[in-house]
Amino acid sequence: MNAPTPTQDELKAMVAQAALAHVPPHAWIGVGTGSTVNLFIDALGQSGIPIRGAVSSSVASTERMRALGIPVFETQEVESLAVYIDGADEIDPMGHMIKGGGAALTREKIVAAMAREFVCIVDASKRVEVLGQFPLPVEVIPMAAPMLIRRFAQLGGEAALRLKDAQPLKTDNGQHILDVKGLRITHPLEFEDQVSQWPGVVTVGVFAHQKAQVCLMGTPTGVQTLRY
Ligand code: 5RP
Repeated sequence: MNAPTPTQDELKAMVAQAALAHVPPHAWIGVGTGSTVNLFIDALGQSGIPIRGAVSSSVASTERMRALGIPVFETQEVESLAVYIDGADEIDPMGHMIKGGGAALTREKIVAAMAREFVCIVDASKRVEVLGQFPLPVEVIPMAAPMLIRRFAQLGGEAALRLKDAQPLKTDNGQHILDVKGLRITHPLEFEDQVSQWPGVVTVGVFAHQKAQVCLMGTPTGVQTLRY
């Protein structure tokens, strides 16, 4: 009898476990945000791998790590990180990603920029040929939101303010998130450059400059390691 097809959660758990092999002992590491990273944090806590410390990309990940006794430091206390481990909402064949489904994209981009290597951990549903099927998260200064919604419309995108409990969601940085549907991001580097320059954009959720160097992708036949 064939083995049952693993669920998405089982694939996430597989890549979370596989990511431990990318944690050098006694190193500074960066830790992302999201359900896949939560499984990685739990695996790291149980692993006994001694790390010098972790820099976190969100309040949620900081709290989860501290609860497990993992030492967490501020970005300002650390010069560079050996590795940054995080999930993604989409990843293309070059390692460019869309991130920010968990609203942590600004801190994720900052922490990723401090790391020598970005290891992306995803299940295979996140693999795309062209970025843009997942609504693109963009962190914005609230007063700029209506103007930015009009700008995205000129690119063919339909932007909407992300809500939580019927109110605009506030990020860890006190700003708002636009989610932009209908984009087809064929040139991620150029797109990231263009949108990053619009007044009022804090961070665009295209990670092309901070792309992954390694992707651990959970598939029904096991974890694939992709290098870019
Ligand atoms: C959070 C992110 C996450 O990495 C992304 O949303 C994937 O999350 P998950 O592992 O829950 O699927 O960018 O801002």
